Amino acid sequence: MHDTLLLFGATGDLAQRYLFPSLLRLQEDGLLPEDFRIRALALSPHDTDKFRGILRERFAQPGPRVPDPAQVEAFLQRVDYRSVDMRDPESVAAAVRDLVSRRCVSYLSIPPGLYVSTCQGLALGGALEAPARLMLEKPIGHDLASAREINATIGRLIDEDRIFRIDHYLGKAAVQNLLALRFGNTLLEAVWNRNYIDSVHILVSESEGVDGRNAYYARSGALRDMVQSHILQLLCLVAMEPPSSLEADRIRDEKVKVLRALRPLGPADARRHSVRGRYGAGTINGAPVPAYAPPDDSDVETFVAVTAHIDNWRWAGVPFHLCTGKRMAERSTVVTVTLKPVTHWLFEHPDRDNAVPNRLIFRLQPQEDIELGLMSSLAGPEWGTLELHPLELELSSQTGQNRRIAYERLFLDALHGNHALFVRNDEVEAAWAWIDSVVNAWREGGVPLQTYPAGSWGPENASCFLPARFDARSQPA
Ligand code: BG6
Repeated sequence: MHDTLLLFGATGDLAQRYLFPSLLRLQEDGLLPEDFRIRALALSPHDTDKFRGILRERFAQPGPRVPDPAQVEAFLQRVDYRSVDMRDPESVAAAVRDLVSRRCVSYLSIPPGLYVSTCQGLALGGALEAPARLMLEKPIGHDLASAREINATIGRLIDEDRIFRIDHYLGKAAVQNLLALRFGNTLLEAVWNRNYIDSVHILVSESEGVDGRNAYYARSGALRDMVQSHILQLLCLVAMEPPSSLEADRIRDEKVKVLRALRPLGPADARRHSVRGRYGAGTINGAPVPAYAPPDDSDVETFVAVTAHIDNWRWAGVPFHLCTGKRMAERSTVVTVTLKPVTHWLFEHPDRDNAVPNRLIFRLQPQEDIELGLMSSLAGPEWGTLELHPLELELSSQTGQNRRIAYERLFLDALHGNHALFVRNDEVEAAWAWIDSVVNAWREGGVPLQTYPAGSWGPENASCFLPARFDARSQPA
């Protein structure tokens, strides 16, 4: 197991809120080697004592589980801090050189514009020589061209099989469960194709706003931030062919095939089959929240809904409705698979047009459960009458796992060298190729940016992209 972590971007929001707490938790569970060391690296001119003080305060903040102070102190002893200018490879090399005799994993939680110079510095300092590993946060680039350039440049410095590109959704147990359900059961595979499936909805709604991430978000927006990564990964897990084994590359081969089969969006489709929105002022949990106001009048979106088509034998003609947004009515990650109506309808109540189609609903967040919607008869008013009513079968229920736990899993897998939950270079590029087609189609098709009130389900004309749900509570506002 690798024993040294070089964590770039150590003062950033992600590192402070999720990465350090995840590492502390791994230590508490006895999963870090005795001599595991962490070098925190960022631009701020702190020294180790100051940085340890910042972490100590962070760990003391109220949360679901307050760590044991003795564990915190033991953890802080593993951590030292170096100030570094990541634009300057010499500065990076100088900040890591004394550690390269150890088995290092470098973690880049920094803007993608700094990836190349930081990796050049790591290479100069000897920190990319085998068996060293490299973990990269999303986004890899801003579009296909920049992703290709990053992948190609970094690929000249370190082999692909030592690079771990993170999409933290893949670290979530509920997301991994999609694979287990699809390929561990006969029941689903039999109907998992265009003959039986009418449509698929993938919804990732958040009640949080852009809050404090303005600089990044104003350049990114919901399409690049969420669809390029998490939503397309979910789509891959729903749509991929069965891999021949669970070996990392066999899974990733199948995901790439799905991404390559995504039909590029054209301007006319963009006008009809996509919506862009940005939240205005509104209320979340009864409290007023302000509108999103990006710097420089950028026309960046905080909501996107788009219908994707996968041009292959299994999915021809099945729409995949993708939808995500910030400051929406509730936090919810749901995949809904709607089946086609039965071929011949026998019943009067309801009549054919009012029958609810069978649905399989995978709720991944905040609760983790699976619901199967069927039609079933309850006792009719008279003997001999069969009245059908929707029946919801709840197949399992537990609390969804949070982001910190996803990162714990991903750290462990990277330290042990298991690639299955990480994204390969060709996957990233294939995802960007489709995203670029959406960006171009929006521009050429003049798709307008619409405002939606914070706390709603997005712009009004986006409701057709949302999955119909059985509970009225979550119908579009
Ligand atoms: C991140 C995005 O990758 O995922 C954020 O950059 C988003 O904008 C977050 O809020 C959502 O993750 P989760 O685990 O809270 O659903």
